[in-house]
Amino acid sequence: MSRTLLLLLFLLRGLAAGRPPTAAVPRLKLSFPELRARHGLRLFSLEHSCCYEALLLDEERGRLFVGAQNHLLSLALDDISQRDRKIYWPAPVEWREECNWAGKDITAECMNFVKILHPYNRTHLYACGTGAFHPVCAFIEADQHAEEPVFKLDPHDTEDGKGKSPYDPRHTAASVLVGEELYSGVATDLMGRDFTIFRSLGRRPSIRTEQHDSRWLNEPKFVAVFWVPESEDPDDDKIYFFFRETAVERQQGLGKTSFARIGQICRNDMGGQRSLVNKWTTFLKARLVCAVPGPDGADTHFDELRDVFLLQTRDKRNPLIYAIFSTSSFVFQGSAVCVYTMSDIRRAFLGPFAHKEGPNYQWVSYQGRVPYPRPGTCPSKTFGTFGSTKDFPDEVIQFARHHPLMYNPVLPHGQRPLFLQTAVPYTFTRIAVDRVTAADGHYDVLFIGTDVGTVLKVVSVPKESWHRMEPLLLEELQVFQNASPIISLQLSSKRHQLYAGSATALAQLPLHRCGAYGKACAECCLARDPYCAWDGNTCTRYVPNTKRRFRRQDIRNGDPNVLCSEDPRRDTVPQKQLYGVEGSTVFLECIPKSLQAHILWTYQRTLRDPQREVQMDERVVPTERGVLLRSVKRSDAGLYLCHATEHGFTQPLLRLSLEVIGAWQATGVASAGDPQLAAGIPRKVWYRDFLQLVERPPLGATDKVCQRLWSQGRPPPPPRAPAGPPGRGQGEEPRRARRRRTHEGPRAERGPRSASPW
Ligand SMILES: *[C@@H]1O[C@H](CO)[C@@H](O)[C@H](O)[C@H]1NC(C)=O
Repeated sequence: MSRTLLLLLFLLRGLAAGRPPTAAVPRLKLSFPELRARHGLRLFSLEHSCCYEALLLDEERGRLFVGAQNHLLSLALDDISQRDRKIYWPAPVEWREECNWAGKDITAECMNFVKILHPYNRTHLYACGTGAFHPVCAFIEADQHAEEPVFKLDPHDTEDGKGKSPYDPRHTAASVLVGEELYSGVATDLMGRDFTIFRSLGRRPSIRTEQHDSRWLNEPKFVAVFWVPESEDPDDDKIYFFFRETAVERQQGLGKTSFARIGQICRNDMGGQRSLVNKWTTFLKARLVCAVPGPDGADTHFDELRDVFLLQTRDKRNPLIYAIFSTSSFVFQGSAVCVYTMSDIRRAFLGPFAHKEGPNYQWVSYQGRVPYPRPGTCPSKTFGTFGSTKDFPDEVIQFARHHPLMYNPVLPHGQRPLFLQTAVPYTFTRIAVDRVTAADGHYDVLFIGTDVGTVLKVVSVPKESWHRMEPLLLEELQVFQNASPIISLQLSSKRHQLYAGSATALAQLPLHRCGAYGKACAECCLARDPYCAWDGNTCTRYVPNTKRRFRRQDIRNGDPNVLCSEDPRRDTVPQKQLYGVEGSTVFLECIPKSLQAHILWTYQRTLRDPQREVQMDERVVPTERGVLLRSVKRSDAGLYLCHATEHGFTQPLLRLSLEVIGAWQATGVASAGDPQLAAGIPRKVWYRDFLQLVERPPLGATDKVCQRLWSQGRPPPPPRAPAGPPGRGQGEEPRRARRRRTHEGPRAERGPRSASPW
């Protein structure tokens, strides 16, 4: 059976089990105009430029350096829309003409697209661009410490950018600059066919990968490069390359498949003495797996690596690697975030080598003797007596040349994606991660850029233990007016700001908008945003180590029963009086602040009667904003209570008191109370279809309606919150809420299958 079919069956099974493979809904969705008007979204764009692809965050200088089409920018980190400094860096006319003769578009492609931007030393940056299909690099003077801040490029001081920047603006290059050496992964020719991992600049010889050997690199697309120390000895330092490429080990007949890879090299690699001269002798690569385990072993793979973020931890040798992937399948669209640890990566490189005896053989795990020193080991005092890779025995070099691929892949932490979105009309493009200190521990907050100009904010919280993490989708933010893909993303923990680039603009946004979660303690608490806490009055930024008497935050449990029992507003539920004309339609409006909340309506005839759940049928129709009550009967009169259920917690949002008037009565009552009607508006219009005589809340009150909370505790807090006020409600517990709990509660605790993110 094909993978797709299996997947479909799996999806159907999910549906049958009542867990459709729907996408996670953000708690809060903020549009571009809202962010602009109320949440400090700042924008920057240049006339006659585009493509803000290279971002370099410089906390010390307080600058955001940007590489764009024909331009370099230096912007203030605090406010990118302030007065900027810019360098105009076009490609020379001759190069543009050559580019045009080669059949490229002079107005679109034959420009200098700046792709690479690195800090070089205290006074200079290093930048590279496509130079109209003629890659070029330059040192940029960017001295903030000088009396007058400098930002300039000497046009005579540029150098060849081959092997550093791609030729084609549509291609990407990834690189890292370490100790005046540039390590890059890029195509080194005009046609974009010769790919290399390349070391340049600095004093050591330029070194590259073996050419035209598909076992080394096979149409790779480089995504990111990082330098990670391995021990106290700098001779053990390694550079890690993240890319995707056409899988060589994929069995023939299955078509071209893309695999995600991590490659490693030693910083002190000097190449071989007799063979692999000026080529890497320590290059190894392994597959990065990001897959959802399916039933019967049919995993769904996310193989299209898109971006990688290296999250530094206290131990420089063990950063966490956050990677985003999409699927390469046309049938099944989805994106995922997987997290990798350095120990899992190192284990794969210490594991068996992949081996292929000849063209008609399969890739197998190499079982023979591996020469000493083991290929992939750096020449250092830690692991042996070799002073340089040039001293390595020939058999080591030969083995390295034929065995760049490891047999075991690197599996993600927890064996599955941390977060994934399927059945959504977008793909993840970029990721940035912030480690946040909250009242009950550290949390990693993920900012994920998409190809439709939005940013998702996700926090990963432990489910039962710190070994099993659960993602919460807090916000979906539309940071660009148009839906153009996010092509660069950076964040400043220090300044609490996020920076995103697209083809058309740059955007800056604070990392938190605590007030937007609502004005009640329970809303703040249910949001479980580690940046936010309840201070007794509002939902505000949480600042660790400040002594505030009243500060409520519990990211792990997010239980308002425990945290908000002192909230003075908990006993107030807003009330509204509604009049309906017999036979007409009445709309019971109730909109929760959180998109993740489920709405539940209960009804009681009078305050003394028991509450029962309102059943939906053809006369009682649920809509996104409330409930439509069609052809109202006299018996519909009574009290309607709108509850929001979220994270196992139920809070009343609004109490509506409906009075039903006989149609014959209505004229008198209404015209007496309503000036419009008294002024002679024809009767038919208002009572035949759709009319409700509502006591309209004042402007803006719709927002407030749902911000208050939990009054008399009806329905009573669910048992999942043990510390809740016992037996406060006398009302009957709404049936649906109970059902949902028995559905969700145990699911979290069941075995591995139930943990499937579908
Ligand atoms: C930084 O590098 C540039 C380019 O090589 C050089 O001109 C400059 O003097 C260096 N600055 C410092 C402070 O070393």
